[in-house]
Amino acid sequence: MATRRPFVGGNWKMNTTAREADALARAVTAPAADDIDIAVFPPFVYLDRVSAALRQAGSPTIVGAQDLDHRDNGALTGQVSAAMLTDLGCTAALTGHSERRHILGDSDDLVGLKTARALGSGLICLLCIGETLEQREAGDTDAVNERQLRAGLAHAKPASLDALVVAYEPVWAIGTGRTASPEDAQNAHAAIRGVLADLTDNRTAQATRILYGGSVKPSNAAELFAQPDIDGGLIGGASLDPEAFAAICQAATHTTSTTSSAR
Ligand code: 13P
Repeated sequence: MATRRPFVGGNWKMNTTAREADALARAVTAPAADDIDIAVFPPFVYLDRVSAALRQAGSPTIVGAQDLDHRDNGALTGQVSAAMLTDLGCTAALTGHSERRHILGDSDDLVGLKTARALGSGLICLLCIGETLEQREAGDTDAVNERQLRAGLAHAKPASLDALVVAYEPVWAIGTGRTASPEDAQNAHAAIRGVLADLTDNRTAQATRILYGGSVKPSNAAELFAQPDIDGGLIGGASLDPEAFAAICQAATHTTSTTSSAR
């Protein structure tokens, strides 16, 4: 039996002031993390203080960045390297978030380079994929996910994939209040796991956590997380509300996924 430890991440996006970041960091120090991984992804400028606050509180909460550059260093104004992130105590990073792809212009190939850099630097990498409404209505959900997954992992070394987490975030569900039905999300997740098995091997596919993101709230989290291939969530708006985020983490705690595949 393969057991996947639930994972819930809070992506704060370009929100919070320093004071609000401190308050949110204090709120996630609660030691609810016995059988779950909890992560927060504050803006770059607050990573240092959030990471220090959590360290000081002895919290197991993972601190991650919302993006990174794939190069070492150099004349790249405004960019942040993996080494800078690990320097600050970051142990995770997002790549390929839909807002980076669709608003900020990250191509499939660039996402692949960033993912390889994050994984190669020892960071847990949450590779985000997902289709737009137009693509969904054209019946292309699985094809888009497959394309983004293959490109996202094109440069990653097989040995680094233990630190991979995939986040399926349908673009039409992000920040809209519309959520994929548990059945639709499960179908997408199962197809993603199938692509992972094809790209890697069955053991890796069964061990890799696949999170759902897109308008997850306390009221819909348990039903989503109960699906066999949904191993937690990547939370936007609700992660800015400590009570809502705690309730979502709680919903994930009781849904450790198991599979019967050999590992
Ligand atoms: P919402 O939870 O606000 O829909 O955002 C999801 C998301 O983009 C997390 O990365």
